[in-house]
Formats: sequence, structure tokens, C-alpha cells
Amino acid sequence: MKIISTPLEMQHAALAMKRGGRRIGFVPTMGFLHEGHLSLVKIARHHADVVVLSLFVNPTQFGPGEDLGRYPRDFERDRKLSEAAGVDVLFAPETAAMYAKDASVAVVEENLSRGLCGASRPTHFRGVVTVVSKLFNLCLPDVAVFGEKDAQQIRVIRRLVRDLNFPVEIISGPTIREPDGLAMSSRNVNLSPAERKQALCLRRALDRAEVLQRSGERDAARIRASMVEAVAMEPLATIDYIEIVDDETLEPVARTDRPTLVALAVKFSKTRLIDNAVLKPGT
Ligand code: PAJ
Repeated sequence: MKIISTPLEMQHAALAMKRGGRRIGFVPTMGFLHEGHLSLVKIARHHADVVVLSLFVNPTQFGPGEDLGRYPRDFERDRKLSEAAGVDVLFAPETAAMYAKDASVAVVEENLSRGLCGASRPTHFRGVVTVVSKLFNLCLPDVAVFGEKDAQQIRVIRRLVRDLNFPVEIISGPTIREPDGLAMSSRNVNLSPAERKQALCLRRALDRAEVLQRSGERDAARIRASMVEAVAMEPLATIDYIEIVDDETLEPVARTDRPTLVALAVKFSKTRLIDNAVLKPGT
């Protein structure tokens, strides 16, 4: 596995691979890798000749007072996991090399990023969309793989690729969970043992939504109320949002007759966890 730490070297390596006729698969991450990230590497492998994984805790997608300083980092661990997963190129740039001090250009998605996580983190998607655009320009992927765990993120990235004509195919991977149902996240290590137990309320709330949908309930307010109740049972949990939105437009819906995204964000002290499920009318 090749380790590249400067943007220019990455771009040259990607250009050389492309000239050699190799199809590049790309998995962008912020590191502290887990099975969720590694499942995306496996998907990338299926669709490409070489897999590039980026490891960059992108400061511009964290708001003031968020957990940038507490975001877990362990390069050696990530290096080993990447190598074992069959990553060909590990791209781990320094912040100073990624952003000029007087950087003044950003990429902004103005519709899908407004609600859900965008409402409580107003500068988050500007940071995500900008860094992903930069990473695409550096890694030159034919295909890039993102997780459904970040449901809004992947929809925003698809819109970025469509509207700015990036020559990249976006593929999604399902959410990988711990045996008890908690969605894997780098942030899970910041939970205390009590918080870790109570964090299962996100999965429980989604289970409730799915059970209600299967039993024929289509009233979004009633489904939401049941989810709120499941989270409110846990004293350490604070609801950031619980929303039921159209799967395509991400606009709130009153009924779940069309494919519907059920998404929630819950805080445990400074740790914010997200999870989601898609309700299909036929289920
Ligand atoms: P990060 O949170 O490290 O996630 C990197 C990728 O892994 C994202 O596509 C995310 O959806 C996916 N992922 C995270 N947890 C997962 C799980 N349990 N199962 C499956 N996939 C999972 O998302 C980011 O980083 C950043 O915003 C990034 C896109 C790298 C831009 O900085």
C-alpha cells in the first residue's frame, strides 16, 4: 500500500494511474476506521482496479463548538486496517496543504443541505461538498463509494456530481451495525458506558417506525411521536431532530405513502449520533 501525504503527489499518482488505463475507486473518510468504512472499500474493489482511501479530518465541516478537537485519530491503526482491507493508496494530507490560509472558493449545495443535519449544523455541508470536490480533483476517481449511514450526505453528493458534472459514479453502501444494532461510527468511542447503552434508542426509534409502517400506519406525525417517545425514555439522550421526509426532495411529509426517509440525530453530552431508515410504501 502506498501512502501519499501531499495533494500534488496524489494528483500526479492519480493521473498516472488513469493514463495507465486503471479504473480508480475512491472511499473518502475522516479516519478512525471501522467495519462501516471497510465495507465501502470492499464495494470500491468490485468496481475498480485500484482503491484510494482518503483519511482527512476536514475542519471546515465542523462548526464552532463542535467536536473537531475530540474527533478520534489514530494514523497507525488506520494504516494497518487500510492495508489489511486491500487499499492500494492511502491519501492522508495535512490540513495546511489542503487549505491555503486565504482560501476563498467553496462549493455550496443550496437545497438538500438546508434541513436535517444542515439545520443544526449550518456550515457543515458547505465544508463537506467543498472537501469532496477537492478530493475528487485530487484522486480523480471513476467511482466513489459513500455510506447510507449519512443519508443526507450521499444525496447532497449525488446532487453535486449531477449539477457540476463530475465524471464520477456514486455508489452507496448499507449501514454496518454493531451486533446490538448501533450504527458503527468513529464517534462511538467518545460515549461513556452508560451513554453507549442508551445510544441504542436510535435503532429502537427506527424499529418503531418500521414496525408501524409495516402495520399499515401512514401518518408521519404518529410515527414521529412514537420515535420521540423511544428516545425520550433514555435520560442521557437529547433529541437534535427526528424527521420524516421525502426520500428524494428531503422535504417533510405528512404521510409515508411514497418512499420516505426517517432520520434522526441524538446528542449524548457532546457526542452527536445519527441514523436513518428508508420506509417503502410496500413494506
Ligand atoms: P466519515 O464519517 O469518516 O465517513 C466516511 C464514509 O463512511 C461516509 O461515506 C460514511 O457514510 C461511511 N460510513 C460511516 N459509518 C458507516 C457505517 N456504519 N456503515 C456504512 N458506512 C458508514 O462522512 C465523512 O467521513 C466525511 O463527511 C467525508 C465524506 C469524508 C468528507 O469529509
